[in-house]
Amino acid sequence: MKRFWLGFIIVIFIGLMSACAGTRAIMQTAPSAPKKATALPAITAQTAGQWENQKPDIAAQLQTHIYGDMPAVEGAARVEAIHPVAQAAFNNSANISEWTITPRGDIDPFTVVMLMPADILPGETPPIILTQNFCPNHNVIPVDGISKPKRAGFSCEGNGPMSDVFGYFFGRYIMTPPVEMIMNRGYALAVVYPPDFVPDDAVAAAPILSTLSQSDNRTGAIMAWAWQASRIMDAIEESGEFGDVIAYGHSRYGKSALVAAAYDPRIDGVIAHQSGTGGASLSRSKPGETVKLVTEGYPHWFTPKYADYADDQSALPVDQHQLLALIAPRPIMLGNAKRDVWSDPEGAFRAAMGASPAYALYGSEGLTAIKLTEFKPEDDIAFWMRPGTHGVVEEDWPAFLDFLDAHFK
Ligand code: GCU
Repeated sequence: MKRFWLGFIIVIFIGLMSACAGTRAIMQTAPSAPKKATALPAITAQTAGQWENQKPDIAAQLQTHIYGDMPAVEGAARVEAIHPVAQAAFNNSANISEWTITPRGDIDPFTVVMLMPADILPGETPPIILTQNFCPNHNVIPVDGISKPKRAGFSCEGNGPMSDVFGYFFGRYIMTPPVEMIMNRGYALAVVYPPDFVPDDAVAAAPILSTLSQSDNRTGAIMAWAWQASRIMDAIEESGEFGDVIAYGHSRYGKSALVAAAYDPRIDGVIAHQSGTGGASLSRSKPGETVKLVTEGYPHWFTPKYADYADDQSALPVDQHQLLALIAPRPIMLGNAKRDVWSDPEGAFRAAMGASPAYALYGSEGLTAIKLTEFKPEDDIAFWMRPGTHGVVEEDWPAFLDFLDAHFK
């Protein structure tokens, strides 16, 4: 019976998907080498000092035209409680606790699951990967004692068809990263489900987005989720238990991981996997998902002004290479897949090329790959493109960890 329903859902899903532009994009492949080089406006600063002076203006432009207000900060977020959850879980590799964090006095607390490598020695402070996830925390880390989300949102419950279909289409690690592999390589993990803070739905998100906005330039959910990552950063910093902090996210959370690092200099590196439009891919003159499609499909992700560029993307005064450049010289890994033209790997590669002059100002080369298929984990902008489609598959995490080892070990 279960097979019948699974088959039925897959047939309906394929039927629906074939009507949409995203599926048509799967039929195409990204080129192996960039077709155009120019990412405009070019980064023209001549010294790191000049660039540091220009950064606030670029950060403000990205807020005005794309992401909306960065919410106000009232001191560091408060850690209300730390609950031990499990010792030596995931085959003896991880000690798990749950932190309850209040991000600001007028906003509800949220929970973050923290996983520490079980073999850590006293006084050791491992690097930590701060992950924003598609599924609620108790699904991502299926261990007894982890709180369920307050809001009934997207569910990846148990062995239900939704989680089977989800895994089938979006890869083995779409829900749970390979925890044991990550622990054994010496990295801690923070796990959070952003829709429990700002729902991933235009109507449901509206009240909290207006609370977070500082002006008419309404905060978009991507900016809000980035701000949430910064509040988790407050807690990580206060604990003194961890070393470097790397923001990780896939797709919409790849967008928020980049924004988090761009606006929070305490974040030491980023892995943005298939972050696409509004993430690492250039908004101007792009294949795959256009500004029109992303703002129609997900109006709550951005400030409303971004939609003004739906019919003329080239009129945008800022572009995504400038977002990457705000992160310079901290290491960035951009994950991609050859058949994920919807996320526009070529646009991400050209953004990496366009950001590299900012890296050069700090004595880093940024991206040195010439082809999209050349993975150089030690580069400060490392570009990864594997075969296949959108999702987090078996070969992705080993590549992410190679990048992390090259920069944070
Ligand atoms: C949609 C959306 C993308 C986004 C993706 C995801 O495909 O169009 O912009 O990156 O969802 O988050 O999975």
